Amino acid sequence: MERTFYTEADLRAFAAQFARLLRAGDVVALSGPLGSGKTAFIKAAVAERLESDCVTSPTFTFWHRYGGDPPIDHLDFYRIESPREAEELGIEGALAGASILFVEWPERAAHLLPEMCFAIDLEGKGNGPRTMRLRGPRELQL
Ligand SMILES: Nc1ncnc2c1ncn2[C@@H]1O[C@H](COP(=O)(O)OP(=O)(O)OP(=O)(O)O)[C@@H](O)[C@H]1O
Ligand SMILES: [Mg+2]
Repeated sequence: MERTFYTEADLRAFAAQFARLLRAGDVVALSGPLGSGKTAFIKAAVAERLESDCVTSPTFTFWHRYGGDPPIDHLDFYRIESPREAEELGIEGALAGASILFVEWPERAAHLLPEMCFAIDLEGKGNGPRTMRLRGPRELQL
């Protein structure tokens, strides 16, 4: 599926709708260059599932766990420099399949992620529109 979001609000609305359809064990890998909107997408998804507007940008390094049922995990592999480094992060808890997992920069540690995941590619920068491509292991009514 491909969509264009002309504003951040458009992207956030889609992310919220998408988030409602997720369940425990789902992994959502978000790729795209710096500033393309990966974190914006995840924040809107988390806010929707937690029914809270107070999700702020976490100052975590690699892994942040939000509450919720199932819980939501957020990994960011941006700073990973080698596959070995990724294995030493102690993020097994996020990969155990009991949560909904969002991953930024998944290509930096792709070997740690399951093959069956939702892959979201974002393109665009600044205040310009974003183009999103979404592939997934099952059809979603979006
Ligand atoms: N249509 C849009 N969709 C998403 N974000 C937008 C849009 N227009 C402007 N923005 C802005 O673009 C920025 C996207 O930043 P964001 O942190 O989500 O990017 P990122 O992909 O997570 O980058 P990084 O790789 O550095 O983590 C935000 O400041 C957001 O307000
Ligand atoms: Mg980000």
